[in-house]
Amino acid sequence: MKNILKSIALLSCILLFQSYNNSDRQPPKSNNKVVNACAEQYTFLSKSIYDKLNTKRMMPRSIKKNGETGLTGIYDWTSGFYPGSLWYLNLLTNDSKWESLATEYTERLDSVQHWRENHDIGFMIECSYGNALKKSPSKAYDDVIVQTAKSLATRFHPKAGIIQSWNASKKWNCPVIVDNMMNLELLFHATKISGDSTFYNIAVSHANATMKNHFRDDYSSYHVLNYNTETGEVLAKKTHQGYADDSSWARGQAWGLYGFTMCYRATKDPKYLEQALHIADYIKNHPNLPKDNIPYWDYNAPVNSDTPRDASAAAITASALYELCTFLDKKERKTYKSFANSIINSLSSPDYFAESQTNNGFLLKHSVGSLPHNSEIDVPLNYADYYFLEALYRNKTLK
Ligand code: GLY
Repeated sequence: MKNILKSIALLSCILLFQSYNNSDRQPPKSNNKVVNACAEQYTFLSKSIYDKLNTKRMMPRSIKKNGETGLTGIYDWTSGFYPGSLWYLNLLTNDSKWESLATEYTERLDSVQHWRENHDIGFMIECSYGNALKKSPSKAYDDVIVQTAKSLATRFHPKAGIIQSWNASKKWNCPVIVDNMMNLELLFHATKISGDSTFYNIAVSHANATMKNHFRDDYSSYHVLNYNTETGEVLAKKTHQGYADDSSWARGQAWGLYGFTMCYRATKDPKYLEQALHIADYIKNHPNLPKDNIPYWDYNAPVNSDTPRDASAAAITASALYELCTFLDKKERKTYKSFANSIINSLSSPDYFAESQTNNGFLLKHSVGSLPHNSEIDVPLNYADYYFLEALYRNKTLK
């Protein structure tokens, strides 16, 4: 009898462990339910801001300290995320109302293709026009991508082999931030459209310099590097939005993971895949990663009960991981898919996913813009929503 009881107890433990493990490996359980909640919430958001469409500031970005929806103009680095989210809602739901709204907001960015004042036009135009092109071909939109690549290429320094992120200032000679990896997608896209390999070569040069100079031996990344544009010498390795110069800012790690995964997609150069896998492992195995897999704003920030999480870093990471899975065989991808699923399950839970018609219509709560600047701490951010929707789409289409 004792032995039977022991066996039953052991079996229960095994079943319990397996069901925990399986739940971790399942695709986000209620993908459809979550997509429906996203569509409902963005219907609310879009209606609440639609009368601002003809003003200079019309893209929803976050919630201001006074509780109002923070709107931003077309030259802000985040201006492509709202149209991009509308495109993903269209892809996820097949509801044509999202297509017409996405088109309207995308075309508002028309003049950004000529903007040369920082590197962010890659984000702005690829997330809007680039996603529109996933829906249907358009010669006019192709031209926008190519013109944007021409504008971005003016920031390339051939001797140093990098694209300058921000303009020179008292503090920086030629600053390059790890986030800049994200702008390379537009350059690869422009070469595909135009056949002009200049853009591809610039992207590869920038990715190689970033891999060599931005990353430490443990595959964590510096945030900002200051370059000498004539010699390519790195003058300083600093942070702007992280906890310390030698810390690992959570969104920076996510940008790196996403950027090198995308570079592998575009080039099939195995060193980019290897780099992405190392960054993914760094994130997944980090001792400061909380149990729900939503990181604190910096992996090296001192942790107490008030330390903010960054849902945006988590959403970018999950989206990148789903793409990474497409380059791995079924056995290899298991760990990364399970990790991505568990991030998405956490973000879809009431801890992070806003209750209907709250959070000013944004999907996710608890992101951090820039803690050292006391800016946008523990708030919704349009890019957290964008990468969350992209992750849902990538999960849905992952074979
Ligand atoms: N690219 C700016 C940021 O991640 O905050």
